[in-house]
Order: sequence, then structure tokens, then C-alpha cells
Amino acid sequence: MTAGVARARGTIAAMTTETTGTAARDGEPRRGGPADSPFVRACRREPGPHTPVWFMRQAGRSLPEYREIRASVAMLESCRRPELVAEITLQPVRRHGVDAAILFSDIVVPVAAAGVDLDIVAGTGPVVAEPVRTAEDVERIRPITRDDVSYVDEAVRLLVAELGDTPLIGFAGAPFTLASYLVEGGPSRTHAKTKALMYGEPELWHALCGRLAEVTLAFLRVQVDAGVSAVQLFDSWAGALSEADYRRYVLPHSTAVLSGLADAGVPRIHFGVGTGELLGAMGEAGADVVGVDWRTPLDAATRRIGPDKAVQGNLDPCVLFAPWPVVEAEVRRILDQGRAAPGHVFNLGHGVLPETDPDVLTRVVALVHDLSARPVEQGR
Ligand code: CP3
Repeated sequence: MTAGVARARGTIAAMTTETTGTAARDGEPRRGGPADSPFVRACRREPGPHTPVWFMRQAGRSLPEYREIRASVAMLESCRRPELVAEITLQPVRRHGVDAAILFSDIVVPVAAAGVDLDIVAGTGPVVAEPVRTAEDVERIRPITRDDVSYVDEAVRLLVAELGDTPLIGFAGAPFTLASYLVEGGPSRTHAKTKALMYGEPELWHALCGRLAEVTLAFLRVQVDAGVSAVQLFDSWAGALSEADYRRYVLPHSTAVLSGLADAGVPRIHFGVGTGELLGAMGEAGADVVGVDWRTPLDAATRRIGPDKAVQGNLDPCVLFAPWPVVEAEVRRILDQGRAAPGHVFNLGHGVLPETDPDVLTRVVALVHDLSARPVEQGR
């Protein structure tokens, strides 16, 4: 498969399998390894040969090769089989030539490993058998160790060997978004039960989020130790909160996760949807890169986040259904506005929708690379 990835990316360098994704012994990133890739360089606000691009949910139902594999394997089961995880993770890298792979898993995988009885239902999302509502329920969420998620450790090691110079992004769900699924029992539009618990029983709320932060940090540590080149903390539903409530009820827990990885040596990306008002606070949680949805242009986002962090995102996933000239104009706008930031990773404002034509994604990758190509010494 390494040769396949290398062919698809058209680079000789990608054919090496001996990279580790971590710093070399002398502490300097190995030249040409994933730590020196355009993606990691942009996350670190360093100049690179082009603006890197990947897509949230790039591995998934938009790809016929993914649908074929998943036809006979349930979602959670597919996350627990390292060879399948590796194959599904590599599919979009081969097909689109994106600058990073993202581990195929789900935000509820570590929570299931911690003992919560749940399933991922097609077309719905995570469904929890017994929603978490009491102190006893919180106590039942066990801390996790590497052994509880050994399949993730194994999958990351397989992938790092296969990917060569292409970086692998590890990820986890942030405490608020996980808490919402656990308290509601499934997806929710209003997060009413979650907020009722948060406002009505703040001690229990903080106990729940504290436990989820522990599980999340342990899950990300396993991925870092196995060799991922960056991590993304998804707080997809944090935009449901005001900034004041976010700071009071959520920020300390997301900070515990991100600051717990401060010594890990990999960039930390923090993303949510509808978070225009929260961008500054989400950066303060300890992110190196802040994810931005389609509502806030990247230059405005940069003013809110400050000059010491990179940005990622902003293309509305629905724009991919528009005629190509519209897509192209949006890509150009985002690249232009991204220049206001000290580092820019091209991405969508949320995940790829299942109905998306994968050929459009491939064209977007090529366009981003073409339009942003620059000699390294020229800087950003
Ligand atoms: O390519 C990638 O981005 C990696 C894979 C990935 C999945 N889930 C696979 C998946 C990632 C990063 C996630 C994270 C995730 N899961 C989030 C945060 C990102 C976001 O979208 O905001 C959230 C909120 C979840 C919870 C979840 N899991 C939802 C809402 C769904 C969709 C339900 C549906 O069927 O529409 C899932 C299931 C899921 N996770 C799928 C995939 C590919 C679809 C399952 C299938 O193929 O049937």
C-alpha cells in the first residue's frame, strides 16, 4: 500500500517507510519526514511549499471504496480492526493526494472502551443505552489504559509505517461534545438535557467533564505514543454555548486535555461548529491551530484568535455541490483570507457530506496546491 500512496502522491520521498513521525534523536525534526511536511509546518506557522489541505470526514461515505468495505462491517467493529482502520484511513490519501491522513475512528470509541454501552447507528450517530444522569453513572465511566484501546495503538503504528512522509492526525472528542451524547443518549438539536445538568447540577457536570477529559487525554496519549504527527480535539457542538458559559463550564476541561499534551511535541488543533464567538477562548484552551466553520472568514477569525496561532477550515461543505466556478471562487477567497493568519491549513468548515462527489474533492486538492505553490525561501 505504501507504493500505492506514493504513486498517488507522485513523490519519491513518500516511498520511504522508515519515518516515525516524531523528532529524531538530536531533537530536530527528521528532514523530509512527516514532522517536516507542509501540514505540520503550517500548524507550526512555518513557511512551506504550498498550503496544505485535508478534509474532515475525508474517510467515509463519499467514497465508493469505503462503502464497499462498510457494507459488511458495523461502524464500531470497523474501528476496532487495525487492518480495516488502516485501509479506510489510506483511501482518501491515495485518491485525493491530501496533505494529511486522519485516523479512522469515532469520538465515542474511547467512551465505549471506558465501559459505556453505546452503538453508532447509521444515519443517526452515537446512541447510548443508558444515558448518564447521576453521580453513579459518572463513576461507571472508567479511566482507560493503552490495553483498552490496543487496536488504536496497532492501527496508528501500521499507518505511520505505510504513510511515509504523509502525516497522520490523531483525534478525540472534547468533553462538552462527548458529554452531550452521554447525557442526551444520542444526537440533540438543542442540547437541552445537557444544559439542564450543566446549569442545575454544576458539581455533577464538572465531575462528568473531568472524567471525560481524563479518558480523552489517555486516548490521545496512546495515539501520540504510537506516532501520530498532530492531534485534533473535536468540540463539534460547543457552539451551542455563550462565551461566558463556555468559559465557565467547558474551557477548564478542554484545557486539561490540550495542556496535558503540551509536552507531546505535536501540534494541537481545536475545532467546533458555530463557534465564531468562542474562537478566542478555544485558542486559549491550548491549541496551536484553531478550526473555523464556514460562518467566520479566516481574516476575521485570525483577529479573534490572535497572531500566535494557525487557522484551519472555512469552506462550506455544501459549496462542493455547486458548479465548479463557484467552488473555485470560494477556494480562492479562502486562500486569500487565510494569508492574514500566521499559518493556514485548508479544510472544510465541517465534515464531508456523504453525497459529495469525490472527484470534486480531488479537484479542490489540486487547485489549492496550484494556487498556493511558492518557493520555500519566499516564506508565507
Ligand atoms: O475522516 C475522518 O474525518 C475520520 C473519521 C471520523 C469519524 N467520526 C468516522 C465516522 C471522525 C473524525 C469522526 C468524529 C466524530 N464523530 C465527530 C466530530 C466531528 C464532527 O463531524 O463534528 C462527531 C460529532 C461524531 C459522532 C458521529 N459519528 C456522527 C454525528 C456520525 C454520523 C451519523 C450518520 O450516519 O450520519 C457518526 C458515525 C460516523 N463516524 C461515520 C463515520 C465515517 C458514518 C458511519 C457510516 O459510515 O455509516
